Amino acid sequence: MDTSIKYAKKLDSEDPLAEYRSRFYIPKRETLDMDGERRWIKPILYMDGNSLGLCSSDAEEEVIAELRRWKSLTSRGSGVTEKIQEMQAKLVGAEPDEVAITAGATVNIHSLVSTFYQPRGRRTKILADELNFPSDNYALWGQVRLKGRDPEEDLVFVRSRDGRTIQEEDIIAAMNDEVAVCHLPSVYYTSGQLLDMRRLTEAAHDHGIIIGFDCCHSVGVVPHYFDEWGVDYALWCNYKYMNGSSGAIAGLYVNRKHFGTMPGLPGWWGNSWSNRFDFELEFKPAEDAQAYCIGGSSSLGMAPLMGSTRMILDAGLDNVREKSLKITQYLMDIIDDELSVEPYGYGVGNPREPERRGGHVAVEHVEAKRISLALRDRGVLTDYRPPTTIRMTPVPLYTSYEEVWTVVQHLKAVIDYGEYEKYSEEQRGMF
Ligand SMILES: Cc1ncc(COP(=O)(O)O)c(C=O)c1O
Repeated sequence: MDTSIKYAKKLDSEDPLAEYRSRFYIPKRETLDMDGERRWIKPILYMDGNSLGLCSSDAEEEVIAELRRWKSLTSRGSGVTEKIQEMQAKLVGAEPDEVAITAGATVNIHSLVSTFYQPRGRRTKILADELNFPSDNYALWGQVRLKGRDPEEDLVFVRSRDGRTIQEEDIIAAMNDEVAVCHLPSVYYTSGQLLDMRRLTEAAHDHGIIIGFDCCHSVGVVPHYFDEWGVDYALWCNYKYMNGSSGAIAGLYVNRKHFGTMPGLPGWWGNSWSNRFDFELEFKPAEDAQAYCIGGSSSLGMAPLMGSTRMILDAGLDNVREKSLKITQYLMDIIDDELSVEPYGYGVGNPREPERRGGHVAVEHVEAKRISLALRDRGVLTDYRPPTTIRMTPVPLYTSYEEVWTVVQHLKAVIDYGEYEKYSEEQRGMF
């Protein structure tokens, strides 16, 4: 492993996606320099794109265009939503009419699960897992209750063997004729493990189970082939790897074999364009994925997605995935080489195989929380996930190998100077 900055620069010079960085706004902040002595105004080292993607000029221009349309009252019927739907369908391996851009991720979980979870006879259970993002499991809990059932009985969690990952075979072993719906993440938000969605879909269908995935941590960085895999439903947010701004309007997918299934949470936006403004008493849902929308979505929340989605398609999702795997491998290799030894004690908590990895590296350290805080003062933005994970995400469109190299130097420095010891374990909240 060549851990020199020269090698990092060489990798940057060979990076076919390097030109995209200049289209993103990389914020500057007053931060500590490498020896922890002086403060400088300099660009932050942003390793948090799996939480909130950065703003691009492409996204910004679309917001300005949307504001103009609003001012001139030409935003209605501008076709923006349909264009984003068409583009995002390509990212997830679906036809445009199987995708809707609507609401937020958790709302879409409720909409989809309320539709597909129909406990009948012996089939009364939802199969989930204990490591999924809490919002998913809260929504599942609520949906079980709304069907008049007891979550203690009917919400079944597959347990993790190691606290970080879930084995596909453990999920498959829990599939039986009591399970109505299996709801899983594509990528685990802490460990970054990517589940084998094709295999799980096949297994679910062998058992007569409907299967859906929360793809918040994979859309925009991992290619999906929902139609080919036969996934029943999926949803994703658009503010992480999709760079669509905080709270951007989310996406959902419904396999066309389910078109016509009555939505569990009907609303007027579930009508089609042709009958929405008929204002009829009876709900006549659209014949495609639009049916699972509930209310109208903010056009300003939608607008950045025009620019940010187009950018990913232009760059090529396969190229994005290739760089993501390469740059995360680079980070893992330097950690193994330089940071796993004394006095540093860092480790890698995500699976190593490329086909089992999402877009982030789970850097492990017993002092993860205090180290994250110390890094923040050094202008390195990561995020901490209890108990011992620092998530680090080199985003293919805007992170350079040199930045990753520099982040590693900061990881060393906070230990070398005992800097993390100045921070309190008690701090809570988002960081
Ligand atoms: C995997 C996953 N699912 C759901 C959510 C919740 O998203 P929202 O706040 O858009 O409902 C998040 C938020 O980070 C997430 O990471």
